[in-house]
Amino acid sequence: QEDEVTKDDDESIMDTLDEEDIVVFQPTNTWQRVHPGQGVPAGLHVRLNLQTGEREAKLLNKEVGDSGGPSKGDCRVFSSTELKRALKLLKDEPVGQAEVGVSEKDSRQQSFRSMEELRKDFEELGLFAEPDSAVMARLLEVINDTKSLLEVRRHALRELEYHVHQVDNAQDLVKLGGLSILVRALNDSMPDIREGSAFVLGSALSSNPHVQVQAVEGGLLQRLVVLLATDPSLPVPCLPLPLLRHFPYAQRRFLDLGGVSLLSNLLETDRDRPLWIRIVTLAYDMLWEKVKPESQWEHAEKVERARQYSAISLLPTLWQHGWCKRLPALLEHPDHDAREKVLRCMAELMRACREEFLSASGLQAALERLQSEYQGLAASEQIENEPEGYFNGMLYSVQELQKQFDKLSEIFLPNA
Ligand SMILES: *[C@@H]1O[C@H](CO)[C@@H](O)[C@H](O)[C@H]1NC(C)=O
Ligand SMILES: *[C@@H]1O[C@H](CO)[C@@H](O)[C@H](O)[C@H]1NC(C)=O
Repeated sequence: QEDEVTKDDDESIMDTLDEEDIVVFQPTNTWQRVHPGQGVPAGLHVRLNLQTGEREAKLLNKEVGDSGGPSKGDCRVFSSTELKRALKLLKDEPVGQAEVGVSEKDSRQQSFRSMEELRKDFEELGLFAEPDSAVMARLLEVINDTKSLLEVRRHALRELEYHVHQVDNAQDLVKLGGLSILVRALNDSMPDIREGSAFVLGSALSSNPHVQVQAVEGGLLQRLVVLLATDPSLPVPCLPLPLLRHFPYAQRRFLDLGGVSLLSNLLETDRDRPLWIRIVTLAYDMLWEKVKPESQWEHAEKVERARQYSAISLLPTLWQHGWCKRLPALLEHPDHDAREKVLRCMAELMRACREEFLSASGLQAALERLQSEYQGLAASEQIENEPEGYFNGMLYSVQELQKQFDKLSEIFLPNA
């Protein structure tokens, strides 16, 4: 049986541990957590808990003839995503050769197992046996089968959503034909399935250009427009809006298909739901990414992106759909996050919307009200020793907008 010791020689972490945590692990017949810094006596059954990423140990159970390996009964299949997650949690633990904790005066040298060794153990146990793509293929089959029970399909969607957060899984989803199945499911007769598939698509698309391209080719953009037009009951996080982020080609097509006009209608009719916050955020993000290339891009990519973005006339389209008139009123919303998005969006639109903003009755008063409100809230943050707090940031945003607004007033209303 493996002899295993974990030790954390980081003094700051050691300081936070209780005295009793540092002593040698006291094994029992049940699995117990092995704390960082604890020495594990030889001859114990040690395992990695894949849910928590923590090491656990117990006495070997000789009566039932436990050979030290996992018995057939408590064996379960872990997908490689679960294993990767567990291994990531483990990363913080030091590996290598080190002395055993302070209470162990005999300072036995004990060997630590490296991540590579752990990985090998997993492979030997066959835990990598079922790759994520096989799991996803099964889930997709269930989702595509409209004769399956609703509860089973819902569960399959939740599982799939969990998997596609990983970039390579999202790409496998494309290879498995998952996009067309999910786009089809966006049109399912059951609302839960429509919602769930939109949610999965949104997760797979987030910051994943490869999937975005495939999704547009698979007709997702048209579906998005139809959804916006016909399914206003769809919960907000379920719209596959991430399709548009950092993807100028999709943005242009979206504009061509009248997407902005649909979003603008929702902005008008949907002010009580968080949907309009998402819409304002999306507009801000799209305006911002157009002028601010990602710093990690190569020069050639920046040039190419700039060329693509230059073909998108989002600003004039927002102007045309009355955003300049709508935004100032949205500042009245009581929710701080909502206001933050509106403030940012207004800052981006300041020049394009100058006439509307300058003639908006009550905008100056609203800005003054927000300033005094956030001055108060930022002051209490100061007292609580949080000088860089959230409300201080809000105060800064309002003041910046006020400055821009004053500058406009000077230029365009010189006699006011
Ligand atoms: C999904 O189901 C439809 C209708 O039953 C079928 O025509 C299609 O081939 C299925 N797609 C996949 C990838 O299994
Ligand atoms: C959606 O469903 C309707 C009727 O249920 C059908 O006419 C339409 O073709 C479907 N659209 C897609 C994209 O599957």
